[in-house]
Amino acid sequence: MKTKIQSLRDYSNDYHESVVDPEKFWSKIADNFVWKKKWDKVLDWDFETPKVTWFENAELNLTENIFERLLPTHENKTAIIWEPNDSEAAPIHLTYGELFKATCTFANALKAQGVKKGDRVIIYMPMVPEAAVAMLACARIGAVHSVVFAGFSATALADRINDCEAKMVLTSDGNYRGNKNIPVKAVVDEALDTTQFVEKVIVLKRTGEKVEMKKGRDFWWDEALEGQSDRHEAEPMNAEDLLFILYTSGSTGKPKGVVHTTAGYMVFTYYSFLNVFQYDTDDVYWCTADIGWITGHSYIVYGPLLAGATTLMFEGVPTYPHPGRFWEIVEKYKVNQFYTAPTAIRALQVHGTAPLEKFDLSSLKVIGSVGEPINEEAWHWYHENVGKGNCPLVDTWWQTETGGIMISPLAGITPNKPAHASLPLPGVQPIIVDAEGVELTGNNVEGNLCIKYPWPSMIRTTYGDHQRCKDTYFSTYKGMYFTGDGAKRDHDGYLRILGRVDDVINVSGHRMGTAEVENAIDEHPEVIESAVVGYPHEIKGQGIYAFAICDGSDKSPEVLEEEIKQLVRKIIGPIAKPEHVQIVSGLPKTRSGKIMRRILRKVASRDLSNLGDISTLLNPEVVEDIIKGAGLD
Ligand code: WT7
Repeated sequence: MKTKIQSLRDYSNDYHESVVDPEKFWSKIADNFVWKKKWDKVLDWDFETPKVTWFENAELNLTENIFERLLPTHENKTAIIWEPNDSEAAPIHLTYGELFKATCTFANALKAQGVKKGDRVIIYMPMVPEAAVAMLACARIGAVHSVVFAGFSATALADRINDCEAKMVLTSDGNYRGNKNIPVKAVVDEALDTTQFVEKVIVLKRTGEKVEMKKGRDFWWDEALEGQSDRHEAEPMNAEDLLFILYTSGSTGKPKGVVHTTAGYMVFTYYSFLNVFQYDTDDVYWCTADIGWITGHSYIVYGPLLAGATTLMFEGVPTYPHPGRFWEIVEKYKVNQFYTAPTAIRALQVHGTAPLEKFDLSSLKVIGSVGEPINEEAWHWYHENVGKGNCPLVDTWWQTETGGIMISPLAGITPNKPAHASLPLPGVQPIIVDAEGVELTGNNVEGNLCIKYPWPSMIRTTYGDHQRCKDTYFSTYKGMYFTGDGAKRDHDGYLRILGRVDDVINVSGHRMGTAEVENAIDEHPEVIESAVVGYPHEIKGQGIYAFAICDGSDKSPEVLEEEIKQLVRKIIGPIAKPEHVQIVSGLPKTRSGKIMRRILRKVASRDLSNLGDISTLLNPEVVEDIIKGAGLD
């Protein structure tokens, strides 16, 4: 069987085989790799416990499948192209040979600093090649990395360090983002004041910012590398040994650590990368995500490198120093596959097509979208102006928990339909269910999206709390993984993702739990109670709207609103800062005391049609106040 699907017929055959005999199907894909020891059984599973084991008892090291496997043919091929924030500064090209040496050297440095197999290492870094090297070096020695997006606050960072009891933090002095210079090390210092687990911090010099280095704890990157050999024998890992933990928000509580393991993640990211993007040997592939998110893990680092691709890493932002920066980069490196988020597309759409017309985009063969539903207008703008009407547009639906792309067109192979993620990848068995969990078969149906069979890169547990994994994903509908998304199968049989059906807001493709933002707001000494909802936002997809009761405060509502916004920014990070805060006298509640978010969503969306019956509320009078306060009366 060929790994790469080359026709619609291949797709149908492979899909069919993957459902009829999943174990045979995935073992053939897994045969592309080098294993220190082969598996006894391809798959063992039950969604009740839940327990999922792929490639049972096999041994391997993921990085051997990037380096030792590919070096004979890829030694001098560019693995990573790095484009710095400053468009005038020199880029870096790292070949597979050079990346291997850098990975081994850093692997030895980590070991010299006392990191052992199974230890957790936090990576809180800008988009620089060293960040990818750090991930690979962890995988090389069997340490479990947890990348934390460098825009998160000290509190958010400390929470993650404490949750996984991380021994080490890898960071930089500062971080360039557009015309901003963010003092990253200072955030780490603040976080470490409130946690005891971290023994060592390794700091990359990036901006030259003056930082405090704590003796015995903090080391410069170059210092740590000194005298280390560029050879390292890969640590043998069990197929189900942890590869990484990545924190993501849910509808309740603090962010949870999604656990991904070695072999299944490797097999699926490789397979999905090759097939969705239809990568060809000499192509240059660029995904604009940050390594702090799952997209950066699977489709900047692991998937592309396992496929021997040239992957571009960009340190900056789309609009710096000008709104044509993305297109300038596409021209500069003759990018063939370009993968970004709808929010970026909508933000660039505002600048019109002039910035696009200055650059030659003829190298593009495939364009992609990820992170949130792409509205039809943005889809067409992207397809016509960036893809010039002749590049397949892959609208890829997946999640931190799925590890890899689940539902998406395969570029140029399966049909494109605006705003539709379309068809599942081979090995993926999505179903739409009604509220009771009954499968809705046939076309023209709408309901909740579940997956009924395991796929190799699925979440194994939530770190340190398996019950939470069970409750969140495997309990809503018995025997199925529940995605939290609504979906529709249209009259042609194509899937369209409708967005979250739980209390999760998607802001610019970033997931925020309403409860998490409410908890931050409630830290304000004058806030008695708060409720947070999402509302449609032209660029961000959804914006955050907060309602807060602040009884007996002498401060003006304007002052309170600003204080609350800044507090959320401080506790979680700039991405969670509410767009609107409205001080209210009360929150609409049901007789059992539950907040009626439906009404709040209506107010936040500035759409009072179908408000529904409010007479059954415990306190119907507050609704009028809230409407008035929002200026909607
Ligand atoms: C949620 C997952 C997957 C990497 C980035 C986000 C939404 C993601 C799409 C898409 C419609 C999408 C879903 C999903 N989502 N891609 N192509 N169409 N919705 O990962 O932070 O784990 O968020 O993002 O709602 O559940 P994440």
